[in-house]
Amino acid sequence: MTMDGIISSPIDSVTSEFVKVGIVGLGAQGRDVLLPTLQSLKEVRIDAICDRDPQLRKEVSGQASISKAYANIEEILQDDDLDCLVVACPPDRHYEIAIAALEAQKPVFIEKPPATNLGDLRHLVELSEKLNIVNGVGMNFRFATAIQKIKQLIDTNAYGTPATINIKHLAGFPRQPMWGVSSLEALLFAQTIHPVDLAIYLAGQPAHFKSRIAENDGKITIFSHIGFESGTECTVITGNAAEKFYWGLEVITNQGAIIECRQLWEVNVWTPSHREDFPSRESWRNTWTAGPLDRGFSRVGYRGELSIFLDCVRTKKRFTPSFSDLIPTYGILSDIAAQEIQRD
Ligand SMILES: NC(=O)c1ccc[n+]([C@@H]2O[C@H](COP(=O)([O-])OP(=O)(O)OC[C@H]3O[C@@H](n4cnc5c(N)ncnc54)[C@H](O)[C@@H]3O)[C@@H](O)[C@H]2O)c1
Repeated sequence: MTMDGIISSPIDSVTSEFVKVGIVGLGAQGRDVLLPTLQSLKEVRIDAICDRDPQLRKEVSGQASISKAYANIEEILQDDDLDCLVVACPPDRHYEIAIAALEAQKPVFIEKPPATNLGDLRHLVELSEKLNIVNGVGMNFRFATAIQKIKQLIDTNAYGTPATINIKHLAGFPRQPMWGVSSLEALLFAQTIHPVDLAIYLAGQPAHFKSRIAENDGKITIFSHIGFESGTECTVITGNAAEKFYWGLEVITNQGAIIECRQLWEVNVWTPSHREDFPSRESWRNTWTAGPLDRGFSRVGYRGELSIFLDCVRTKKRFTPSFSDLIPTYGILSDIAAQEIQRD
């Protein structure tokens, strides 16, 4: 890689006016989220789909007018027309699909989690760096509109630096083993991966970590505390015990401001009363809120992540988060998985 982050990839640059994408995996995420998000992007053409289910191939190719439908990764990798693959398969298939794509020198975007253990992820990092192939992981929270607003406030030091960041990511599933891993690991890879990655995105390199896992009749709650090299202390609470998905984030800065976001709809900033622009001792709140017509795929980050990834394919630049950016997150998930579960 050169100093400006341009990857000297052995594949030819994208020469046509469209980036030609192949989607692998047409389940809930591939068909209902990634396909319509890609269809909404300019300068992108979905040239081929791939799923091992023949009925899904038939339905999706008919509905989306995509003529090339392949049954497996080997077949789609024979298609030299494609500039990159976007993959959303069961995670226990992701590692082998990623290896096949990298070895075929095809840029690849893989939905989280790209592997089901740290060793496999490390191998993906080694191979992608050795072969210099653009790669990315679908961590959509980073790209959500509200998170981008908060990241900008942090990076510009608008209200001071974060003293603490607290994230709650509470879901109702999974409660069973799936993807070839235990129910705890399935929860870590389905849910906990998101807030841990987000904390790292906002606070930087983790320095120390501790967690506690509580279980009651299959309902798991994970309390984690991550200390960062930046000095920020972070708490992450995740679990599978919620009735409905609940998501909330709170940043408390060293100047006493509170930046808060719930359900990715709204960002509230409570400014300290001593600020010059708010000289009275009254309590002030600034609010950003998503517009009523804000389309979900943009607001929750899918559009941003795919649009930037495809731009990286076009320009051969490194995409973040890549496989290597997920290493600290996997380190924390592995530590959590090694904890003893406290049962009620
Ligand atoms: N970022 C997010 O917010 C988010 C949300 C939901 C799911 N996901 C991720 O998306 C991925 C897919 O989840 P899903 O709910 O769509 O799963 P799913 O089981 O509904 O769909 C997976 C699809 O992949 C196909 N498939 C399986 N093995 C294959 C292979 N070897 N080659 C080609 N096709 C194959 C299956 O036939 C199925 O259609 C998972 O990694 C999940 O964690 C991410």
